[in-house]
Amino acid sequence: MARPLKGSAEVPGDKSISHRALILAALAVGRSRIENLNPGGDIRSTIAALRAMGARIEQGGDGAWTVDGVGVGGLLQPEAPFDLGNSGTSARLLMGLVASHPIRAEFRGDASLSRRPMARVAAPLRRIGARIDGDYLPLAVAGLYPAIPTQYRLEIPSAQVKSALLLAGLNTPGLTEVIEAAPTRDHLERLLRLFGAAIEADGTRIALRGEAELRPRRLHVAGDMSAAAFLIVAALVVPGSEVRISGVGMNPTRSGLIEMLRAMGGNIALSSEREVSGEPVADLALRHSALTGIDVPPEIAPRMIDEYPILFIAAAFAQGPTRARGLAELRLKESDRIAAMAAGLAAVGVKAEESADGLIVHGRGGDPLPGGATIDPALDHRVAMSFAVAGLHARHPIGIAGMGVADTSFPGFLSALGALAPS
Ligand code: S3P
Repeated sequence: MARPLKGSAEVPGDKSISHRALILAALAVGRSRIENLNPGGDIRSTIAALRAMGARIEQGGDGAWTVDGVGVGGLLQPEAPFDLGNSGTSARLLMGLVASHPIRAEFRGDASLSRRPMARVAAPLRRIGARIDGDYLPLAVAGLYPAIPTQYRLEIPSAQVKSALLLAGLNTPGLTEVIEAAPTRDHLERLLRLFGAAIEADGTRIALRGEAELRPRRLHVAGDMSAAAFLIVAALVVPGSEVRISGVGMNPTRSGLIEMLRAMGGNIALSSEREVSGEPVADLALRHSALTGIDVPPEIAPRMIDEYPILFIAAAFAQGPTRARGLAELRLKESDRIAAMAAGLAAVGVKAEESADGLIVHGRGGDPLPGGATIDPALDHRVAMSFAVAGLHARHPIGIAGMGVADTSFPGFLSALGALAPS
């Protein structure tokens, strides 16, 4: 029998906001303070690169970080290549940052990151004058100052590419404009406003005036919805569970999973809705729920792009099939997440049908999963955490080969789960 999850949990600070807060603080003139920064490996990669370009970044005894910025335009020539580990966001955002500064930086990453496409960010950065010598890591970016201000129309919905272009625009004279096909996470736009940049954003068009002067800030990073997602689904699928999670970021560009789980019958209540450092935040209360399979509308993908692996686990516990499509981007994440989830689900006894851009999961109506397999998460933190949640309600144990990869975004994930279900 699965042990019910009971009690309260907190999740780490949002990873996307943490990267951006650090980068803007590193470009401000003076000292910023950041509380609740995400403690994962990806953020360490961004910190190391920013330090190598002259920012002073330290963690205080109370856990908060101070950042002494160098000012927009003040980045120094790094002496060694950046090692960005598993972090696509570090790689793409920092490529944008370097592109409009008169410096050259080499970018390296692990096997997963070295397989991820960088052409989507390199191509527009070349248009503003940067020289980039490859479309996969390892590569080098030689920035141009002054870079050429441009207007970009993004064909692929990608917050990373949008953010890279806006970061390049900060040190570019004139107006940098980005037009998105569909809105993606807008954390950078919110933070730019907070740091005092001249930015206009209306839906899918963002215009930023360059050579900005950024003011240092005191910030508190909202809890990471993409980390909370694993605890949310765990509480919904393990019988008898009742869990509260406080301080979760509810930015509408990130909250698609909540809408989909509610559509499946998930019992999710929000309270104390508030704003923290320009981001909406709420406390969540979750109860075990009888879920029903749904058709996931493809338009919602940009608002929950990182949550499909755990949504597929929720679907495995639902009554009837859940169909998701329009997900070609999922094949380009830390792993090919369609293939990884289809293979893992099959290995633990759940029927899943893969197509080029989607997955159909045939739910088992809330029964425990057969389990009895070991999953290889292929250097993908979200795949690892998804199958750890699946294993909470399985007849035979589900093993994960290399659970340590969860530290990329959610160090302490297993302890957080364990604290909710003490043995
Ligand atoms: C992120 C954007 C998304 C997401 C990633 C983090 C960001 O990637 O999958 O985990 O912080 O900008 P894309 O920009 O490729 O959609």
